[in-house]
Amino acid sequence: MAILKIARMGHPILREVAAPVTDPTSPEIRQLIADMVETLEDAGGVGLAATQVHVPLRLLIFHVPASRTGTGEDMPLRAIINPVLTPLSDDMVTGWEGCLSVPGLRGTVPRYNKLRLTGLTAEGKPIDEVLEGFPARVLQHEADHLDGVLYPARVEDFRTFGYNEELDRHPMDLI
Ligand code: NI
Repeated sequence: MAILKIARMGHPILREVAAPVTDPTSPEIRQLIADMVETLEDAGGVGLAATQVHVPLRLLIFHVPASRTGTGEDMPLRAIINPVLTPLSDDMVTGWEGCLSVPGLRGTVPRYNKLRLTGLTAEGKPIDEVLEGFPARVLQHEADHLDGVLYPARVEDFRTFGYNEELDRHPMDLI
């Protein structure tokens, strides 16, 4: 296990479109997932994409605490290999996002409220589920990383984009 270096905004790896994982259960992928888990636990946050640790493969990990799932139950940390997101309605919700590759900042981003997630588990088993609200936001943020997109590119109201320290000191009522 190893804590991996997280690329910061401006590094070209974060603009790459990641390639599909061809052998989801290979030892290399298992090791990568273990290292990403350790890296996310060290850094804090709810999700991490492989491109953020300089590996251009379509793989992400995420978890959602019980307070933010909307169901009262937590979503434990897990890997999604080759994720595909399909919006299930045109409903968009604007909410706060931050990113380990854009440290110290946050901003508001509109995301689809409800989507279908397909992909593979770390064991190579198919995933097919519906996510709504904050979990759907997390998946859209992480899947964007695999297409070389960082959340600041999705901010629409730049009045909300700022340093966490300032936003914590001066709560805003823009959303
Ligand atoms: Ni991010």
